[in-house]
Amino acid sequence: MDYSEFKASVANTHLAPLIYFAEEDYLQQLKHGDFPRWRKHLKEFPEVTTANFDFGEVVKIGKAEDIDSHVQAEIKRLLLEMIPWRKGPFEVLGIPIDSEWKSNLKWARLAKKITSLTGKKILDIGCGNGYYGFRMLAQEPELVVGIDPHLAYVAQFWALKQFATKLPLHILPCALEQISDPLECFDSVFSMGVIYHRRSPIDHLLQCKKCLTPGGELVLETLYVDGPTGYSLIPEKRYARMSNVWFVPSIGTLEQWLTRCGFKNIQIVDDSTTTINEQRKTEWMPFASLEDALDKSDSSKTIEGSPAPKRIVVLANTPS
Ligand SMILES: C[S@@+](CC[C@H](N)C(=O)[O-])C[C@H]1O[C@@H](n2cnc3c(N)ncnc32)[C@H](O)[C@@H]1O
Repeated sequence: MDYSEFKASVANTHLAPLIYFAEEDYLQQLKHGDFPRWRKHLKEFPEVTTANFDFGEVVKIGKAEDIDSHVQAEIKRLLLEMIPWRKGPFEVLGIPIDSEWKSNLKWARLAKKITSLTGKKILDIGCGNGYYGFRMLAQEPELVVGIDPHLAYVAQFWALKQFATKLPLHILPCALEQISDPLECFDSVFSMGVIYHRRSPIDHLLQCKKCLTPGGELVLETLYVDGPTGYSLIPEKRYARMSNVWFVPSIGTLEQWLTRCGFKNIQIVDDSTTTINEQRKTEWMPFASLEDALDKSDSSKTIEGSPAPKRIVVLANTPS
């Protein structure tokens, strides 16, 4: 977790307030029970750096030829200790990481619809282990910053990034609402799979807007339900086994939220149903997955009796 490149790249820019989340004082006070364990764990990785990358469907960092088979076995053991790997797939120094989600399918649904990322500054909110951030690098952006408060996923990114320290992709262990300054300087902001986890979706959209440059693009991906404008599903307790889902909007409701927050050019660019081909248990995520969250006798419903997960991708701009 060497943030020196990040600090150098944002010092004296509008992004300088983000340095706070990369300072040792901030990192030290993170309270997650596993955090000291992750730090110790990361120190156990053999020192290897590579200049071999492929930011395609399987994000490849290094090649098997970069290391000998003993080092590879040790790295695989250490990476496996960091389960669950929810987002991927990755191949790290020849080690395939078959994550729970085939995140390449989501990226394929939106990559051709979004504004080019070349030369741009990008923020990925709820970036997890950074799979999409690596995919973005294929378009040669100036800088990609990911944020995520879930340290286990950020630690996975730190494990990957140690092999590739020079990439202009950095992940900070923080939540969107911790960024109090109106940064107003990212050309594109991604919020994928986050808004339904927020108790206040409107505040989430306003916070996304404050990060964007005038005319910048929000890429919003979310669960949705069928229903009239104004309707949102508010799960009684859980939705598809998740206890942290608060509002699942209809498409009209989502459009109205965006309009009321001042976004323009609202376009739905993808609509899909999540399948057990896309989200499933693997060696790298051996716990319950989508199959366990769907009604065994009617896969159009979750085990709680709600509509099964469907997702949309929406693009919208801030006013120029
Ligand atoms: C369902 S996952 C989606 C991950 C990824 N963006 C994707 O689309 O596959 C939601 C992610 O958002 C993160 N998250 C939840 N609340 C957040 C917040 N307030 N700010 C930033 N990230 C948040 C979670 O830790 C988790 O990694």
